[in-house]
Amino acid sequence: MYIGIDAGTSGIKAALVDEDQRVLATRTEPLTSQSPHVGWSEQAPEAWWCALLAAIDALRDSHPRAVAAVRGIGLSGQQHGAVLLDGGGRVLRPCILWNDVRASAECAVFEQRFPDSRAVTGNIAMPGFTAPKLLWVARHEPEVFRATRHVLLPKAWLRYRLTGEMIEEMSDASGTLWLDVGRRQWSEAALAATGLSLEMMPALCEGTDRAGVLRRELVERWGMDVPPVLAGGAGDNAAGAVGLGAVRPGDAFVSLGTSGVVWATTDRFRPGPRAAIHAFCHAVPGMWHQMGVTLSAASSLAWWASVVGRSEAELLGELPEVVARPSGLLFLPYLSGERTPHNDAGIRGAFIGLERSTSRAQMTQAVLEGVAFSLRDALDGLAGAGSVLEQADVIGGGSRSATWLGILASVMGIRLHRLAHGEQGGAFGAARLARLAVTGEDVAAVCLPPERVETIAPDDALQAAYGAVLPRYRALYPALADFAAVP
Ligand code: XUL
Repeated sequence: MYIGIDAGTSGIKAALVDEDQRVLATRTEPLTSQSPHVGWSEQAPEAWWCALLAAIDALRDSHPRAVAAVRGIGLSGQQHGAVLLDGGGRVLRPCILWNDVRASAECAVFEQRFPDSRAVTGNIAMPGFTAPKLLWVARHEPEVFRATRHVLLPKAWLRYRLTGEMIEEMSDASGTLWLDVGRRQWSEAALAATGLSLEMMPALCEGTDRAGVLRRELVERWGMDVPPVLAGGAGDNAAGAVGLGAVRPGDAFVSLGTSGVVWATTDRFRPGPRAAIHAFCHAVPGMWHQMGVTLSAASSLAWWASVVGRSEAELLGELPEVVARPSGLLFLPYLSGERTPHNDAGIRGAFIGLERSTSRAQMTQAVLEGVAFSLRDALDGLAGAGSVLEQADVIGGGSRSATWLGILASVMGIRLHRLAHGEQGGAFGAARLARLAVTGEDVAAVCLPPERVETIAPDDALQAAYGAVLPRYRALYPALADFAAVP
């Protein structure tokens, strides 16, 4: 029996998975983010901890025998966040999250101090990544920076609380800008450019490695027969990939979660910084991946729902299951800036083409289309970096909407596969990594693809219609770059 924990931005999810890879139960405890200033996004690590305890307590209450038999725990989590600890392991300030864009100016400083950065880390320095956040803290909160002795990513901090050990695995470490991604080791030059050193970093391991043992008091709290081993785990996207069996070169998926991701597994380190494509280690040994990221995907729909005071389900219910034509409006989903392809933390979103007859349903459709166009940009960016995709699995909360998937397939021009358990995502992948750490089985034997319940192919007429809209969508970014930017 295994537990996978996905420490996401909107909640902590724990999944109980048996030896036949059946998900027996899941429990999600919601989380909120705080935004004390425009462009900031923070969470208190203690809130993650309380949510994690509550999620596993609930699994123990509903499935005490299964939880007693747990042998391994895997962690997956939101990437890039910076948890700063003092010498006593105490948290010094709220975690600055992946979708926080305050550290824009520090990106240029980092690349200036570390000119090999893009070649070594595989990525353009972006404010979402960890290193610029530390430069921001050094400049704006010098007393916090001076007190910092350890820097952990969100799931590594949870591991620290669960096991007492500071260990991080490669896929998440890749999102810091401190990893030599090709060599799978910390880059001392990158750390020095941020005023940090190797001793402040957690030890590195692969996602399938053993990385700590659950503390005794927690073993007792949850009534486990033997202390479970923790696996290295994975960043949430890599954990999603493991859950989908995307562990072979060429395997691909699209994630319609809070953020949107187009992912391609690669057998080599293949940087593609020109279109702001990320090149990271995979969570399984000897593999890497490329990924394009849309910062506001399902969160664009959530934002629109909150503006009009309707639930997302109600808004989607106002649309047909298959749209006949483009909405006629354009929506730019840059609600908190954008990574792929613009790498622009200051750009903001827009609706274009409103008229008196514009309906709420049309605007909802435009939101779904805008996210789809942004993911099309990511797809084309991946192609430019060597990964040409013709099909992909789809995961994430947004993948429940047939309407959205139809739009996405026609805008991206690729076949999309809806999966039997497409929303299970990171927690299931993390449970697989736990199993690999415990049993040492072959990765490919455990990471089998899930059942595909439906394939959505592009509709010829709709694809042609969206093809005509695409240049107009793309023309909007340069037109609005100065106008819609946060000063
Ligand atoms: C990936 C990224 C997001 C977060 C979401 O680079 O920033 O997908 O991992 O949790």
